[in-house]
This record gives sequence, structure tokens and C-alpha cells, in this order.
Amino acid sequence: MPESQKKADALVFFGATGDLAYKKIFPALQFLIHRGQLDVPIVGVAKSGWGLDQLKTRAHESLTHHGGVDERAYETLVRQLRYVDGDYNDPETFVKLREALGNAKQPVHYLAIPPSLFGPVVRHLAESGCSRDARVVVEKPFGRDLASARALNEILHETFDESRIYRIDHYLGKEPVLNILSFRFANRFLEPIWSRECVEDVQITMAEEFDVQGRGAFYEEAGAIRDVVQNHMLQVVAMLAMEPPGMNAPDGIRDEKVKVLRAIRPLGPEDVVRGQYRGYRHEKGVEADSQVETFAAVRLAIESWRWAGVPFLIRAGKSLATTATEVRVRLKPPPQRSFAGHSLDCSNNYIRVRFNPEEIIAIGSVVRKEGEQEALQPVELMASRQTSDEVPPYSRLLHAAIEGDQALFSREDAIEAQWRIVEPVLESPPPLHFYEPGTWGPAEAHRLLPECHDWHNP
Ligand code: BG6
Repeated sequence: MPESQKKADALVFFGATGDLAYKKIFPALQFLIHRGQLDVPIVGVAKSGWGLDQLKTRAHESLTHHGGVDERAYETLVRQLRYVDGDYNDPETFVKLREALGNAKQPVHYLAIPPSLFGPVVRHLAESGCSRDARVVVEKPFGRDLASARALNEILHETFDESRIYRIDHYLGKEPVLNILSFRFANRFLEPIWSRECVEDVQITMAEEFDVQGRGAFYEEAGAIRDVVQNHMLQVVAMLAMEPPGMNAPDGIRDEKVKVLRAIRPLGPEDVVRGQYRGYRHEKGVEADSQVETFAAVRLAIESWRWAGVPFLIRAGKSLATTATEVRVRLKPPPQRSFAGHSLDCSNNYIRVRFNPEEIIAIGSVVRKEGEQEALQPVELMASRQTSDEVPPYSRLLHAAIEGDQALFSREDAIEAQWRIVEPVLESPPPLHFYEPGTWGPAEAHRLLPECHDWHNP
């Protein structure tokens, strides 16, 4: 087994006293310990003047507020926990880290810190000997455009080769998102209809009822396109649209995703409608005349034999009518456009895949309306399961990084292809339209749809 695929023998997380650690990392660690999947030393690193006891208390608070404390797992967690306090620009911090790692030879370094700190941290990891045979996990956002993503890749590659770099997109750790591939490639019946021959359009909606929730300053730097379209939404598109991976291709899924991402035409202003909810400009950290979008509707064209001419339509935004993430793949109407006196111009045949708040796969079809002569009615054949039993995405991803499995992480070429798609509209953004909170975004989004089509509101 190559070194890069062996199980890691320590987990280091930078940003141990930060927000992400509080909300996601401690709960993910407790989950893994509860399942017996994390038995290596865990080293938190941060600059806060704290000691280990304070970090333990912080872990307890984090668990109390995010999923609950499992006392046995928590006891084990704190037994495994170590803490290094120090500045990320100070070589001494990394000398202390090397000591804290003890005999560990293959640590995972998880950089849950702002990208501006990646450079110094990675350099000091190398100089202190902490990077030898190590892996590095980096958080999103991975850059803010193609040039900065490439620059980040260069920084990482100075110390880690690609087989040791794990770029997180937490959507790739979500059960229902992974299920897209199982549903597509473990069934025979979908393949004959899964192409331009039968598919009319594909809509993906990521609606959030809540606003920026105090993250105004972050959002001012990001906007909806950078925050969720460039990464989460394009990953979902890639999974919906990719070809099946070859049986003996070691990195087959990631290879196929890159191919389809490269077949997507870079967006022009005519393909995007940007919106901002009324009230956003009053959020803390937001400019009074902010031009940042809190909503984006996007029309993608995939220039491939399978998908040419089929629009992939995305809507994502904050302060919308509900919180739900859903894909609808609508099929073309039957060739004979009327039956039993009913027009069938518009199709009621579709596949609906819902990720959030519950997991649903439904097939939309039309049947005879009971008891009514000559009447038809739409019905859904539906399978659903509660997402509460799921492995949380961060647990799945951290476990994969520890085990040396890169399949659920973004590869350099995919990240760059994703930036290439959105870059033109980040450079010259189309006009901003306002919308009322609690609605489905600005009415202008309709202009992206083919004639007589509507947005599907989950
Ligand atoms: C994050 C974005 O990456 O994903 C947030 O920064 C967004 O703005 C979140 O709310 C959505 O993730 P989830 O798992 O709650 O659907």
C-alpha cells in the first residue's frame, strides 16, 4: 500500500478555538470516537493564550450546543486531546507541535483557518519536520478566483504532493449527495433516459430560509456564487451529469467529474441573475451600498454528447421561502402530445431527489384519476428516509482523510475547472435585483428559463 494511503497516526487541527471547530469539528470527532473509528492522538493548535483544560471545556460546550455530549466518547476524546498554543507565524509553535506529536509519523494536518494563513503554516510544517509523510486537509473557500486557487495549489504543492492534499467540500460528505451516484450507477432503468434524448431540463435548488446569520463580513467577501455555486452546486451538477467511472480506474469518479466540469461553458452575464434580499445592507459587517448577491440563479450548458441542449438550472440563496435542497430532472413529454383528450405538451415525468431537510427520491408520473372518466392525475412514486441517522459530513470526511481515501475530496483540476466556469461573472457581474425575504428571489430569474417553463419550488 502506498504511504499516502496508510492510516494516519495523529490528527492535528489548526483553528482549534475557532468557529468551525466549535460547530463542526468537535461533534465530528465525538461521533468518530463513539463509533470506534478514531483512536489516534488529536492535537488542537490555536493562538488564544489557552491551555489544554480550556480546550477541553470548549469541546464540552461545543458538544452541548451541537448534537449533545456522549459522556463516554467525550472522556475518550479528552484523553486523546492535546493542545499547542502559539502564533502560526512563529517557528517555535511548530517545534512544540512536533513534540506534541510524539512518535506519530503520518499525521493529518487539518487547516481549519483562513486561506491567508495556509502559506506560513505549510512552510513551518515543512521546516519543523511535521510535514514528512503527512497529509493536509484544507477548508473551503479554496481561493476566490482561478488565479488565487492556483496560487494556493502552488503553496500546498511546495510541501505536499497531490496524493496528500485533501480539499474539503462538505457536500461531498453528505449521504444524499453520495446517493446520487448509487442511484445512477447501481440501477439499469435510469441510464436509457438519462441524457438529452429524454431529459428536458435539470433544476437544482438550494434554498435557505435564514439570512446571513451574523456572517455579513464573510458574505461581503463571498456572495452566493463563491459561497455555494462554485463548489457545492457544481459538485452536484458533476455527479448528476458525469459518465460512469471505469471499473478499474483508481480515481475514476474524480476523473469523470473533471471531464464533465470541463465540458461546462463558462458563464456569461446572460446566464446569471443575481439577487439581494432587502435588509441585507443593514446586516453587521455589510456595506450600505453592497453589491454582493445573496441569491443566484444560473443556467449552465454542458457541451457534451450526453447533455448538449439540456439546461442545468441552479438557484441558491438566503432568506428564501423555505429551507430545502432538491434536484428535479424533468423528462420530455411523450411523443404523442395528447391522450384521452388531455394535452401532454408539458411533462409531468421527472425524477426528484431531495437532500434536505429529508432524503427523498421520487419519480413523477401520470395515472388515470380514480372514478373520473377520461381524467388524468399526476402521482409520485416515492422512497424516503430520515437524514437524522446519517453519518455527519465532517465525520465522514475526517475519517476518510485519516484512512487515506481521497475520493470524497476535490482534486486540483476540478477546483480549477469550477473557478473557470464562474470566473467571467465574478469579474463582470450582471446587475443586482432586490427581493423580499421569504420569497423565491427576484422575478428576473424567470428570464433564464426556456419558454413556458417555470422554476420548481421544492
Ligand atoms: C456553507 C456555506 O459552505 O454551506 C453556507 O458557507 C451554507 O452559507 C452552507 O449555509 C450550507 O450547508 P448545509 O450543509 O447546511 O446545506
